Amino acid sequence: MLIASYLLHIVLWSLFQLLVSSSSAVWERDDIPSWHQYVRAPSSSTVTPKKVLAGYSNGNVTNAGGLVDGSGTTYLSRSENSSEVPTVVVDFGQNVVGLLTIDFVGAKNYTHGQPGIKLIFSETLEFLADKSDFSRSDNGRGDDKITNATDQIAVKSEPYTWTNQWGCEFSRQVCSDGLHGFRYVKIALDALPEDSPHTTSFGEVGISSVKVQFYGFLGTPDTFTGTFECSDKDLTQWWYDGSYTSEMCIDVFRANDTELRDATSPSLVGKLVIHDGAKRDRDPYMGDLAVSALTSYLTHDVEEVARNVMEDLVQHQRSDGWIPPASINNYGLQLFDYPLWWVSCSYEHVMHTGNLSYIESYYPNMTLLLDTYYPQHTSSSSGLLVRQEGYGDYAFIPRDGSAAYYSALYVLSLTRAAALADFLLKPDDASRWRDRAATVSKSFVTELWDPEAEAFFDRKCTGKGCAAHAQDGNSLAIIAGIANDTLSAKALNYLNTSMRHEYGNSFYDAAGNDLVEEASDRVYAFISYFEMSARFASGHTESALDLIRRTYGWMASHDPGITFWEGIGKDGGLYEDGFTSMAHGWSTGIVPLLSTYVLGVSAVKPGFDEWSVKPRTGGLEGGLRVRWQRNGEGSGESYNVWVHAPKGTNGSVSVPWDGKENEGKEVHVDGNKVYDGKGTVEMGAVLEDGWVRVGIQGGEEHVVGWNGTASG
Ligand SMILES: *[C@@H]1O[C@H](CO)[C@@H](O)[C@H](O)[C@H]1NC(C)=O
Ligand SMILES: *[C@@H]1O[C@H](CO)[C@@H](O)[C@H](O)[C@H]1NC(C)=O
Ligand SMILES: *[C@@H]1O[C@H](CO)[C@@H](O)[C@H](O)[C@H]1NC(C)=O
Ligand SMILES: *[C@@H]1O[C@H](CO)[C@@H](O)[C@H](O)[C@H]1NC(C)=O
Ligand SMILES: *[C@@H]1O[C@H](CO)[C@@H](O)[C@H](O)[C@H]1NC(C)=O
Ligand SMILES: *[C@@H]1O[C@H](CO)[C@@H](O)[C@H](O)[C@H]1NC(C)=O
Ligand SMILES: *[C@@H]1O[C@H](CO)[C@@H](O)[C@H](O)[C@H]1NC(C)=O
Ligand SMILES: *[C@@H]1O[C@H](CO)[C@@H](O)[C@H](O)[C@H]1NC(C)=O
Ligand SMILES: *[C@@H]1O[C@H](CO)[C@@H](O)[C@H](O)[C@H]1NC(C)=O
Ligand SMILES: *[C@@H]1O[C@H](CO)[C@@H](O)[C@H](O)[C@H]1NC(C)=O
Ligand SMILES: *[C@@H]1O[C@H](CO)[C@@H](O)[C@H](O)[C@H]1NC(C)=O
Repeated sequence: MLIASYLLHIVLWSLFQLLVSSSSAVWERDDIPSWHQYVRAPSSSTVTPKKVLAGYSNGNVTNAGGLVDGSGTTYLSRSENSSEVPTVVVDFGQNVVGLLTIDFVGAKNYTHGQPGIKLIFSETLEFLADKSDFSRSDNGRGDDKITNATDQIAVKSEPYTWTNQWGCEFSRQVCSDGLHGFRYVKIALDALPEDSPHTTSFGEVGISSVKVQFYGFLGTPDTFTGTFECSDKDLTQWWYDGSYTSEMCIDVFRANDTELRDATSPSLVGKLVIHDGAKRDRDPYMGDLAVSALTSYLTHDVEEVARNVMEDLVQHQRSDGWIPPASINNYGLQLFDYPLWWVSCSYEHVMHTGNLSYIESYYPNMTLLLDTYYPQHTSSSSGLLVRQEGYGDYAFIPRDGSAAYYSALYVLSLTRAAALADFLLKPDDASRWRDRAATVSKSFVTELWDPEAEAFFDRKCTGKGCAAHAQDGNSLAIIAGIANDTLSAKALNYLNTSMRHEYGNSFYDAAGNDLVEEASDRVYAFISYFEMSARFASGHTESALDLIRRTYGWMASHDPGITFWEGIGKDGGLYEDGFTSMAHGWSTGIVPLLSTYVLGVSAVKPGFDEWSVKPRTGGLEGGLRVRWQRNGEGSGESYNVWVHAPKGTNGSVSVPWDGKENEGKEVHVDGNKVYDGKGTVEMGAVLEDGWVRVGIQGGEEHVVGWNGTASG
């Protein structure tokens, strides 16, 4: 009941639309579509700072404003007598990623070396200190560690443009770390003792401009192949914020700006990939793609960013079937859950792109993983997965044994593998995997349900941490279909009471603190995506939107703003202080959530050859376009879903049916009655779980719904 009125509020006069693939001309009536106002990407790959932060200036800085308004040269000057380090902080206005460039007019008045400039980068003001919040050398060892987390320049006397390339100006002195992800940069006239005699902290440096060469995917309006817009400006804006966060992570894999711990792989260099984060974790990890790949499919025409990663990882499969989670440690990082994400993400890839030859190529690899590796790590008594010793997971949670999350993800992956087997006409594999999923599901419920808390235990064990309940296992049990409606409602209720915070739901309840410090204060937008999906999928739309607002609303309104964080910590801060990546692809679930559930578009067959439109209300050449509009209430309610799908495809549109047949409500398709609950059934309309579903052909626009009681 509450759900209906709440939704009515948010969707009134709303217009939701999505372009699943290209082309946008047909429906746009104004010159500039209104969604353009939400796009966050810079308008060109050369980005200038937006302001100078007055409170952070120090020493003798002349015309600091010139760095922003182009009003001439900015000078940083320090005489031998001054103790003040000339310092200026520029703010790019939002998180950016790329190479900083500085146009110097030259240096003057120095002896004992050229004037040194020291750069300090940070995504947040809180962690803007005397070192960058993170710098590539932080992960470097031996020769790879070229800085102590500040970037140095020996400013020449003649005018020139300096670009922040990874490397040193003099052998191993005056070094810089190259690419950074940041919002703020501190520029100081200062030299490191270890750079002597090449630089000095005294003299005068003139700067005519500071810029960033943007290195993500430049997501200007013309690049969007999927869009979203609704009456709620916050939700709409966060959808584009999620897209921008993902754009910051999409980049060519380059040897000189990826993760330093043996992540550079010749088979990845030069390929377009989706890194985990912009500033940190510049290496693509399999599990993160569970969310970030979906965002990429739904926003831009870059399907290869996920495929390049999945193909590279499966080509490094181990002989027992295990698939590495990332190239880091020479493909040696031991994670137990990420191979399952390979299966699950491969399914999503096929559904979103229709590329069956992709899965055909790697089908033997998938079979080896599911039929050799995981059976070797299965409890013979319960059929649940048992984590291989020495292996971790997405958050390195020290939970050996049969954690609910592993088995729930196993069931999801087996089910998705079975669907892939069906597409490739391999019914034996499909039924074997479905049977196994059913067995695991059954013992999952008997072994792991906690009747006292009314939620699934994280693990069935005795000892430290065994009383814990986790967000991941409970959410995935619902998505995987392990929990029926009754158990789902109870588990979801447990999550949003025992784990509730102003900034989202934490990934553990209080007992989880025995496993991970501050677990019950920590929010992962990554894992929260699965709880939000579980809420939508099981009909708890209102609480899904509540969780979205808390989680994404919190991040969007705290420094650096716009981009979504790797993790939220105690009191809503950064969960790993300045090390936290503040633009992380795995935290962009708002994009698939709004497109898949609120707009309600999903693929039924690979590549949207058959699709489903089922909005939770609350002509395209090659595009599937949906918009819905709901006005009024009661007998005056109008509810219309317009769908225009490509010729040659078909699908279904579902509209909610509250069962009040006597009130005269009728479902119409293009003005013709197809269902009235009193016996009229046209176009194969069926009532199912409170929705009336009708089959629709692509090729032209159709409208399904009603205009007031008994109207068409
Ligand atoms: C500050 O530096 C400028 C040159 O950039 C110089 O003209 C001025 O005298 C300096 N001011 C002080 C107080 O040192
Ligand atoms: C620096 O200090 C010395 C000694 O106190 C003084 O003689 C000199 O004039 C000062 N120079 C400047 C530029 O202020
Ligand atoms: C720089 O040197 C020139 C001449 O040598 C002098 O006039 C000027 O005051 C000096 N500027 C600073 C900031 O020391
Ligand atoms: C880091 O700082 C220490 C001393 O503070 C210095 O010895 C070392 O060379 C520096 N390392 C790099 C890579 O600059
Ligand atoms: C880093 O990589 C880019 C792109 O491949 C290249 O243009 C640049 O020269 C490289 N820089 C260094 C220091 O190797
Ligand atoms: C995985 O697939 C690739 C490409 O088909 C193949 O070369 C490789 O041998 C497979 N890995 C294993 C462990 O079977
Ligand atoms: C489909 O996937 C295969 C890799 O298995 C790739 O070579 C091919 O380019 C992909 N096709 C399309 C249309 O993306
Ligand atoms: C849901 O599952 C529980 C546990 O197996 C069972 O007791 C209950 O009857 C089921 N409820 C429904 C509606 O199927
Ligand atoms: C918590 O979740 C349950 C189940 O989804 C829902 O019924 C309830 O309204 C939610 N509570 C709050 C305070 O959001
Ligand atoms: C509802 O009315 C509008 C405006 O007249 C019309 O375009 C639409 O087709 C009608 N809806 C249905 C389901 O027939
Ligand atoms: C789409 O077409 C296929 C093939 O004719 C048919 O089996 C399927 O039921 C149709 N789907 C819908 C939703 O009408």
